[in-house]
Amino acid sequence: MKSFSVRRSGPIRAEITIPGDKSMSHRSAMFASLAEGRSTITGFLEAEDCLSTVGAMRSLGARIEHTGKGTFVIEGTGGRLSQPSGDVDCGNSGTTMRLLSGIVASHPIRTRMIGDASLSKRPMGRVIKPLTEMGARFTAEGGDGKPPLVVEGGSLKPLSYEMPVASAQVKSAILLAGLSAEGETSVTEPAACRDHTERMLQEFGVTLDLGTPDADGRRRIALQGPQKLRARDFAVPGDISSAAFWLVAGSAKEGSKITMHGVGLNPTRDGIISVLRRMGADITATPSDPKAAEPSGTIVVKGGKLTGTIIAGAEIPNVIDELPVLAVAGALASGTTIIRDAKELRVKETDRIAAVAGNLRAMGAKVTETEDGMVIEGGHPLHGATLQCFHDHRIAMAFAIAGLFAEGETIIEHVECVATSYPTFGSTLESVLKD
Ligand code: S3P
Repeated sequence: MKSFSVRRSGPIRAEITIPGDKSMSHRSAMFASLAEGRSTITGFLEAEDCLSTVGAMRSLGARIEHTGKGTFVIEGTGGRLSQPSGDVDCGNSGTTMRLLSGIVASHPIRTRMIGDASLSKRPMGRVIKPLTEMGARFTAEGGDGKPPLVVEGGSLKPLSYEMPVASAQVKSAILLAGLSAEGETSVTEPAACRDHTERMLQEFGVTLDLGTPDADGRRRIALQGPQKLRARDFAVPGDISSAAFWLVAGSAKEGSKITMHGVGLNPTRDGIISVLRRMGADITATPSDPKAAEPSGTIVVKGGKLTGTIIAGAEIPNVIDELPVLAVAGALASGTTIIRDAKELRVKETDRIAAVAGNLRAMGAKVTETEDGMVIEGGHPLHGATLQCFHDHRIAMAFAIAGLFAEGETIIEHVECVATSYPTFGSTLESVLKD
């Protein structure tokens, strides 16, 4: 069993290299595999989740060669996927299973997708429903829309779909299925959620109508099918969701200065910077090429005192994966931090509301769990504890950061799961504490 053992640290002064963005790595492997021609992907996140996508695309006929650290050369299928010879193992990755559902739905093949214990409990009905309306046939062997999922694909009808929850995975699955349906497929999102699929599909030669958000922030994104993808080289920037752990550690610890280069600054993902700034953090983010399809740049965070804030509404999808570590920031801040409208956290790799509230309380914080978030009364000193991470990478890393502020030793057990998104987190933590 691997565990993290963390004690209160002094100020952190470090330059940290952030590994590739998980969402973009998945999409780069999928889109290059669908495209006609050869693409080279650099900066790819070699973590378990994204390697599940590489394995899946190989089993569907793409030729994918690993030619160096973070570099993959992909010979696309030109949109002609082949019948996989066995089950497609999506591991822990909801993104793999949901986006792939949209991809295989339009192919005359039978795909059986399986996942680990956590993925097997996650809701797939949200992609099964619209993709079934388009004409694909799904069987959820786990019952109640749960994996394993069997997809029998074929020719699809276009769909105009109003998403009930702001989910980039659902939006992406429908748009990817729409690429092969004759006519216009559209998705209306109730609030802006990450737009990597839209940006990267355009990079791979697809024409999309991105619409404009209405007064309530609802936006309709449409494409005319059928359309083909063209191969292209793509450089994946660093993952702001991984930078998030250092952003919180750096902003809450006085005297710290942490610099991170090449971090993704997509405006649908950078909400953590605004939330922490609102809490009083000193963060500068300088894009190196603001016009790039996926902007990225240098982030510098300096330590100080934080005060509580409210995180709610349309901001939630922008910080959905950062909420566990933002809750830790709330416990370290003075005043009250309220997180609401975040019910989606209950269906992530674990129930992140229960996991975060329980672990924070075990460390001495005052937290009240609500149905769609939590209320954190900040400023109560944290003490070490032995914590579970419930096989959830972001819970493991968020509480390693909490341990840097606690009296005594904090142990987080079973942290093997960090390999799903940030395999080098443990060694980076050790090295910043040594510096
Ligand atoms: C992701 C979308 C989000 C996010 C997940 C990655 C993506 O999930 O939580 O880690 O790459 O599209 P939802 O779309 O289910 O909110």
